[in-house]
Amino acid sequence: MIGPSFRICKGRIGKRGGHLGFMHYLCITVFCGSLLALLFIDVIELWLTSLGMSKVEGFHGLVLPHSIPPTRSEEYLLMPSVHVCERAKPFLIALVVSAPPNRKARQAIRDTWGGEIQVRGHRVMTLFVVGQPSDPVLGKELVEEAKERGDLIQGRFIDSYANLTLKTLSMLGWARRFCPQARYLAKVDDDVMFNPSALLQYLNHSFKTSESELAELYLGRVHMKVAPDRNPSSRHFMSETAYAGVVFPDYCSGTAYVLSRPAVLKLSLAAVAIRLPSPLPPEDVFVGICAHTAGITPTHSPLFSGGPAVPFSRCCYQTMVSVHHTKPGDMVQYWTQMHPTAPCSWLGTRTSLGVCKLRALIGTLLGRDS
Ligand SMILES: *[C@@H]1O[C@H](CO)[C@@H](O)[C@H](O)[C@H]1NC(C)=O
Ligand SMILES: *[C@@H]1O[C@H](CO)[C@@H](O)[C@H](O)[C@H]1NC(C)=O
Repeated sequence: MIGPSFRICKGRIGKRGGHLGFMHYLCITVFCGSLLALLFIDVIELWLTSLGMSKVEGFHGLVLPHSIPPTRSEEYLLMPSVHVCERAKPFLIALVVSAPPNRKARQAIRDTWGGEIQVRGHRVMTLFVVGQPSDPVLGKELVEEAKERGDLIQGRFIDSYANLTLKTLSMLGWARRFCPQARYLAKVDDDVMFNPSALLQYLNHSFKTSESELAELYLGRVHMKVAPDRNPSSRHFMSETAYAGVVFPDYCSGTAYVLSRPAVLKLSLAAVAIRLPSPLPPEDVFVGICAHTAGITPTHSPLFSGGPAVPFSRCCYQTMVSVHHTKPGDMVQYWTQMHPTAPCSWLGTRTSLGVCKLRALIGTLLGRDS
């Protein structure tokens, strides 16, 4: 048996030349390797991230208080009925952080993913969080919009980029007081194509019901070892007194992240314990610092796009939980194209996800996106 096959091999190598034969096999190996890497790009990303993530040390520096000052209704200028969550009993509440003028973005969300109330057998609710606009005309329009749609929560602070962290605190406060029914809270920006169905599927695969009741989940696209910006003219400037560390604790990108109910509580406790520096740190960095203080480690998911824009393809968008940089018009268009009759096959999903993640990566490397 060995004799003849050895002769065949030798014959082939002999005919084509030994060097070429070796190159031939090398090419096949590289090709197959690349194909596998493309199909399992998310697994590779998850593995690489787990290598890079800092381990949470035992001591976090601050003692958490035992209770949080209760949220008062007066902190909110506009909000849906106080019984909204009691009635709807959402499993997942998506709180979309929106700026007052972004009416089109809010409408696109209501017309697409935000309009879904029953997903994979779970109740889902989407509300919008805004601050106070400095323009009184915009303020009046918001009151009208709230009356008409009943899905706005307006906190008592000036809505500005520098105040985004106040918006998040206001959002957490509202969820704690008025929506303790929700098992999961998703914080989503208004330019994000969010996919509750993909999130619920992910949660279903990753966590057993019994465990998820108590688990402190802080899920999203994890940014690792980000250094504070020490340039005073930058809009993300953070002084040494505000944050002394060389790098921030790992945190989830603010474009979209998910917190379980116990995580919301613990984060809020930590937020009370930490004195807010001035100027305020970026919203996602602050949440990361609170999580770190509370001893909660972020969980990375390759299905959250974070910064880079992801080119549209149906099977990829069906699988991704969040895609950033989606314009209102595109969101409506993509949503329609994402939901035709046929679901994507396993291979279709893997290929599409691999290709779109690779294209997003190349886009980032070429500096087309932040
Ligand atoms: C943030 O909101 C507070 C409370 O409304 C306000 O006093 C402050 O000027 C705002 N800061 C910025 C930078 O807009
Ligand atoms: C996951 O989905 C299956 C099938 O729909 C369901 O029976 C199960 O209860 C779900 N698990 C969780 C944790 O939601």
